[in-house]
Amino acid sequence: MSKFIIKGPVKLNGEVNISGSKNAALPILFASLLIKEVIEIKNIPKIKDIDVVIKLFIHLGVKIKNDKSLIINASNLYKKFNFPKNLIKSIRASIWLVSPLLVRLKKINMSLPGGCSIGMRPIDLHIKYLQKLGANICIKNNYIIASIDNKFIGSHILMKKNSVGATISVILASIYAKNTTIIDNAAQEPEIEDLINFLNIMGANIKGGGTKKIIIKGVLKLKGGIYRIMDDRIEAGTFLIAAAISKGYILCKNTNPKNLKIVLKKLKYTGAEIKIGKNWCSINMHNKRPKAVNIITGPYPKFPTDMQPQFTLLNCISLGSSIVEETIFENRFLYIHELNKMGAKIFINKNKVFCQGVSTLYSTQKIKATDLRASISLVLAACIAIGITIIDNIDYIDRGYENIEKKLISLGAKIKRLK
Ligand code: EPZ
Repeated sequence: MSKFIIKGPVKLNGEVNISGSKNAALPILFASLLIKEVIEIKNIPKIKDIDVVIKLFIHLGVKIKNDKSLIINASNLYKKFNFPKNLIKSIRASIWLVSPLLVRLKKINMSLPGGCSIGMRPIDLHIKYLQKLGANICIKNNYIIASIDNKFIGSHILMKKNSVGATISVILASIYAKNTTIIDNAAQEPEIEDLINFLNIMGANIKGGGTKKIIIKGVLKLKGGIYRIMDDRIEAGTFLIAAAISKGYILCKNTNPKNLKIVLKKLKYTGAEIKIGKNWCSINMHNKRPKAVNIITGPYPKFPTDMQPQFTLLNCISLGSSIVEETIFENRFLYIHELNKMGAKIFINKNKVFCQGVSTLYSTQKIKATDLRASISLVLAACIAIGITIIDNIDYIDRGYENIEKKLISLGAKIKRLK
């Protein structure tokens, strides 16, 4: 695993181009397995999770050209029912192989998916709803064993628990299903809306993207075409926090501020000056220390869990005290111990952390990254800490942030990657 060596404190100032959304690109790529014509997908971020999907596609015989955009031809798939365990286990998104391959190949055996260690990451809802749509599917010795005799059968799916992943699995299974699938209490994340926009442009019949009720009328086939992935709202939010913690100014370009409403609102409460345009947003601290703000994470449009570590970092160097409550994942505070080693005063009590703002963080020799969003928060902490910090396991960051050190250096960070 490579490391970062970071010297602080620095002020992070300037403009940054936001890349395509990891969490929109992943489901859209798996959805492309349903299409037997050539498609071109633009604005795909160059990150490790996408590299894993490309390897899985090559294993399946998908013809793929990876240049400025991804040109995909999934017209002929090898009858592969097993997959390299290391690939499947390296990303959470591999769970979205099940629906399209049951449609195309009628069968799949694959190990349980991977994903950041922020919780147990069960797949019981995926299993339950695919069974309801007609799949024979179960888990045996940590393998998903699935098959389907014919087409999926549209059904009414009432999601007791809000799940981005399970909503996506149901959508992918229902595209060519007999009759209509209605999902109640569907996840409303913008990335799901982007997936639905992509599928409808390719000929699907889906209504209600971005709402709690999604209606998918089965169609006979999808056609090829071109699609541009939405920008990464979590990357943009991360850079806004970078300015907030270093009392700087950052303009995020290629960003839709509509997807960041709650994050921008909370940043305004810290005393930041926020400006927005059609495809940009900026934050200016005017060299002031932020005020602490309470956060409760929840399903979109509530505060995103993927911004929780970044905002907790902001709170721990802000004026005053605050509470951050995590309601989505049961183990998303692993980074707190690392921040306290740098001088933060954060106390964990079940799914809440209590932050007492401190004015300064100090570098410490060994910081261990634990998951994607925690890792980037520790990198930002090291940028404002006094001294030199070495962060281990930064491969997590490469899973979700494109050219991260180049972007941070352009904003004034003193950061170097050690192989
Ligand atoms: C997606 O994960 C995202 N990952 C996560 O982003 C994001 O944090 C999460 O949605 C919530 O917004 C991708 O899109 C690749 P869920 P997912 O199903 O689909 C429980 C990042 O940093 N659950 O909405 O795994 C689950 O344990 C990542 O980019 C079940 O109980 O999230 C969690 O407590 C981290 N059974 C809650 O539901 C299931 O079958 C929400 O999970 C599925 C989920």
